[in-house]
Amino acid sequence: MRFVDLKTQYERLDGAINKRIQTVLDHGQYILGAEVAELEVALAEYVGANHCIAVSSGTDALLMALMALGVEPEEEVITTPFTFFATGGMIALLKAKPVFVDIDRRTYNIDPDLLESAITPRTKAILPVSLYGQCADYDAINEIAAKHGIPVIEDAAQSFGATYRGLHSCGLTEIAATSFFPSKPLGCYGDGGALFTNDDVLDERFRELRVHGQAGRNYHPRIGINGRMDSLQAAILLAKLEIFDEEVAARARLGARYSELIEDAFSDVDMPTPVTTPYVEAHNTSVYAQYTVEVPNRDAVQAAMTERNIPTAVHYPRPLHFQPAFADLGQGPGSFPVAEKAAERVISLPMHPYLTDEQQLTVIYALKDSVLEVL
Ligand SMILES: Cc1ncc(COP(=O)(O)O)c(C=O)c1O
Repeated sequence: MRFVDLKTQYERLDGAINKRIQTVLDHGQYILGAEVAELEVALAEYVGANHCIAVSSGTDALLMALMALGVEPEEEVITTPFTFFATGGMIALLKAKPVFVDIDRRTYNIDPDLLESAITPRTKAILPVSLYGQCADYDAINEIAAKHGIPVIEDAAQSFGATYRGLHSCGLTEIAATSFFPSKPLGCYGDGGALFTNDDVLDERFRELRVHGQAGRNYHPRIGINGRMDSLQAAILLAKLEIFDEEVAARARLGARYSELIEDAFSDVDMPTPVTTPYVEAHNTSVYAQYTVEVPNRDAVQAAMTERNIPTAVHYPRPLHFQPAFADLGQGPGSFPVAEKAAERVISLPMHPYLTDEQQLTVIYALKDSVLEVL
């Protein structure tokens, strides 16, 4: 069993993907070719944003989002400590300070109730993450941000395809940044990402930042990066986009089924279910970039799953304030108790749209045996 099965997806799509790739090989415009422009139009329409700018990775999308807002050394960007390293890493790369705010214990996303007290005169942006495939509470976040005149960037690396109150992730905030890393809900065959905005000025700035800040031939009003998407990745994404809605529906079905199977599996055990299943808000749909549960004695459960040949992963065992790279922030144990507890307990199960019902049963039987073994 694979944790993410890209091979089965390719077998389904090989004709379409190969055809798209061949077109790129035929025209030979490998960087920012016609496929990139075509993808940008399709993705902007998909999420309901005015502009999409296809870029080299989710990390570079975050970096360019922060650069476009003019984040400077010593300024502060509010984010969550419970995320992939890139979220905090890109803030620090600009020598700005990540200001962590603890998470909601059920959704693992930044807790809007704690947000306002973290705002200072140095706050330049708020960077919530839509973790595991579920959007953060953007109505509440946007309202606080608007009150203080601070822009919001959605880190939508894990949530492309998800909806919040009927609107798509990446269409909810002033800026959104997503990732097309191969294992993401919409993934290419290398690195890729995208920025989204409704703002014409930001759109132009992103396009400049993507090519070293170039505004005209050999004319660079600002510093940028090499943040371009290559045409082969865009071609692959265009082929995959054709069936993306079906895959999103499959993810939703499989996620819900996993939770039912877990409830069933432990129903004959004489104790409250020791496994906490994902909580998806009624106004959200999740793309389950990760199907992540909480278990007691997590490391032992993971080892027991490995013994049973079930691949699992931990997203994330170390909250960002415990990373050595952020040691100078001086935030020890107890600084963000909800994130710290989650980091000790979470474990992600195999998840992709081609998981079979039988494979899900195998995973859940193994999970039950593993949890009961180590309790
Ligand atoms: C929450 C989050 N932010 C940012 C990134 C960075 O994306 P990429 O790997 O495309 O650079 C990831 C990807 O793993 C992520 O999960």
